[in-house]
Amino acid sequence: MKKRFYIETYGCQMNEYDSELLSGILINAGYSFSADPEEADLILLNTCSVRDHAEQKIHSRLGELKQIKDRHPQLKIGLLGCMAQNVRDEILTNKPYVDLILGPDAYRNILEHLQSTEKHAIDTKLSKYEVYEDLFPARKSGINAWISISRGCDKFCSYCIVPYTRGRERSRKVSGILTEARKAVEQGFVEITLLGQNVNSYRDDEKSFPDLLRALAEKVSGIRRIRYISPHPQDVDAALMQVHAEYKPLIANHIHLPLQSGSNSVLAAMNRSYTREHYLKRVEMIRQYVPDMGISTDIIVGFPGEGDRDFRDTLDIMRQVRYDSAFTFKYSPRPHTKAIKLQDDVSDTQKTERLLELIALQKEHTLQRFRAMIGKELDILVESGSKRRPEEMMGRTSCGKVVVFPKANYLPGDLIRRRITNARGVTLISRENVEE
Ligand code: SAH
Ligand code: SF4
Ligand code: F3S
Repeated sequence: MKKRFYIETYGCQMNEYDSELLSGILINAGYSFSADPEEADLILLNTCSVRDHAEQKIHSRLGELKQIKDRHPQLKIGLLGCMAQNVRDEILTNKPYVDLILGPDAYRNILEHLQSTEKHAIDTKLSKYEVYEDLFPARKSGINAWISISRGCDKFCSYCIVPYTRGRERSRKVSGILTEARKAVEQGFVEITLLGQNVNSYRDDEKSFPDLLRALAEKVSGIRRIRYISPHPQDVDAALMQVHAEYKPLIANHIHLPLQSGSNSVLAAMNRSYTREHYLKRVEMIRQYVPDMGISTDIIVGFPGEGDRDFRDTLDIMRQVRYDSAFTFKYSPRPHTKAIKLQDDVSDTQKTERLLELIALQKEHTLQRFRAMIGKELDILVESGSKRRPEEMMGRTSCGKVVVFPKANYLPGDLIRRRITNARGVTLISRENVEE
């Protein structure tokens, strides 16, 4: 009988993509996918280290998996991803039931490691080069295909563990990305999302990120929408915006532009390499080229030394930009990073208060941005029928907002034009079809 694997993915989209790569490797080797850990021969956790809370979740999940292993001693448990670097010693001492520990660059060796007769198979070495160029992921069904264009990060923001868990930045070849995109289209995917820790640091010889976008737009037919995450505010330039304006609506009018903080002294301590003035100028430029660009962000509160005035500076930028949405986090000290040497001097109560204030402000802006869409005619990429309301379907606007509309003869992947007639919280409603 075929061996079955079960995989759980935590963290960012890069991990989602890596889990699809792993699934591809295992399925090619004769494994089949299991949706139930109790029925699997191999359980994989693809983990995230970005905040302490993310790691704690994995530790408690491992405790639950141990109970399954107690009932099925043949079961193998693998811990993969960004936590692998951090936890190997602790796992060997405290969680000996974990059989396999693989870092993000070690997945193509998973089959060998599964055959290893060692008590633990451990491979956490990071590579300077792209190691998965010739592999194809086994994607989950849907309309969107993730495609990794680069790995690792050289920015070394002082709070961030990613440069240590994922290693040095390296880009894939344009040709490999085009091949993967064509294959995804052949398989029925109509939207692609390019992934990298800093997509706009992408480089393949003379080719930059805007060149890659142009190549995808011109050379891969059948794609209806191209997205990417995340660019670094320092590197967002006119060349990128020009490509957006030129290939609209194929390149989605959404940009995720992580702010982290609105205070110049905190930004400097974070090693973000831009100032609030630079950031605001970038936003102005983005809106000059693409006036209806949806802008989202990431913000950290409570970085060491963040005083009330610094926090007010962050709120001020939020008021100036009026983001469509924001992911907001309390600062979490991480091993290996520069900031861990700074005193974590903002109390947890204060972090919580700031976070709540920031979330409340963002909610106001989000609702305003959603309400401002009412009356507009928009291109919507149909995703699926609605699970909760069988009489409805859902899709997404170019700027990434969810729209629901009455069920009709649409198929997932259809690009349709409809007028937005209402907004229900963070869902847009469309009762009107628009004839082109
Ligand atoms: N490369 C991406 C972000 C990867 S991590 C980028 O630069 O946009 C995703 C988000 O997690 C970051 O943008 C940051 O807001 C948050 N984050 C990273 N390290 C953190 C830490 N130590 N504490 C709290 N939030 C953190
Ligand atoms: Fe982390 Fe900064 Fe790199 Fe993003 S750019 S992954 S926040 S070090
Ligand atoms: Fe987490 Fe690693 Fe992504 S630390 S956010 S899974 S790059």
